[in-house]
Amino acid sequence: MAQFIQLVEHCKQSIDDELLAGLTAPQATTSPKYLYDALGSKLFEAICELPEYYPTRIEAGIFGKHGKEMAQVIGAGTTLIDLGAGNCAKAANLFMHLQPAQYVPIDISVEFLRDAVGRLQQQFPDIDMVGIGMDFSLDLQLPQSVRSDKRLFFYPGSSIGNFTPEEALIFLRQIKTACAQGNKTDGGLLIGVDLVKENSILDAAYDDPLGVTASFNLNVLLHLNRLLDADFDLREWRHRGFFNDKLSRIEMHLEALSDQTVRWPNGVRRFERGERIHTESSYKYTRQSFISLLTEAGFENVTTWTDPQQWFMVCHARAA
Ligand code: AVJ
Repeated sequence: MAQFIQLVEHCKQSIDDELLAGLTAPQATTSPKYLYDALGSKLFEAICELPEYYPTRIEAGIFGKHGKEMAQVIGAGTTLIDLGAGNCAKAANLFMHLQPAQYVPIDISVEFLRDAVGRLQQQFPDIDMVGIGMDFSLDLQLPQSVRSDKRLFFYPGSSIGNFTPEEALIFLRQIKTACAQGNKTDGGLLIGVDLVKENSILDAAYDDPLGVTASFNLNVLLHLNRLLDADFDLREWRHRGFFNDKLSRIEMHLEALSDQTVRWPNGVRRFERGERIHTESSYKYTRQSFISLLTEAGFENVTTWTDPQQWFMVCHARAA
């Protein structure tokens, strides 16, 4: 049986405080992590199957084509630390090439991850696995049972895009520090980054005609109703997802379809028709701007792989 450690904060008060501060702000916001309750994780899996949502497919193509070469650059026997592992499928596809000594999937969606790790361990009984349910964006301190040598942080899917570039820099520095836990100098990072491209392609990827991304976004309200005991009426909201050129980011919002009052046990929030809750940003980089960010964070020896259209990029960098 795979080892599983749950470090997710169950301090309800701090969750509520953070959420309510965002919801009651003049420009309402919620952290993108609230997209990922159990249903949200499944809806995200469905997004990855959409023809318009190119990142998963193109990234998989890059790993498929260059995985062997990546493994040569990285070397075997790593401690493969999968940030936001979800269903663990991306890492599992690389096991054959990477031959990790230990696999450490981390995700905030605890039950979803627990199931995925359980299944994966049966499929690969010889790989030592330690699943961790935690919010790694708060803190990257890893438990003792995670090996300290040859740490390879795996952060695919362009999830780094959820951070602002300033936050991304801080997070990359934290990864660099975590590579060096136990005074090791042989750590690294394998990361997927979505690249700036034509607006229409970006817009379609985050506002698909089937409405799966809309469901994924609206599900935040179901999650909030449960967490806060609030009474959001999902029929009174619509999804917005578009590329903001100036800030080089996708923005997802929920837009009120009517004037309304949302209530929870000790508060209310009035929304006017057209008012929005900003639920996610997804920053897009150029190859050069991301390499600069890695370098600024203290990484060295950057190797990059892209698809022929240069829609997506995978980078490896050493923590050295
Ligand atoms: C998981 C953050 C990489 O930004 O593309 C997909 C999430 N949001 N469709 C992304 C997402 C809407 C996704 N990341």
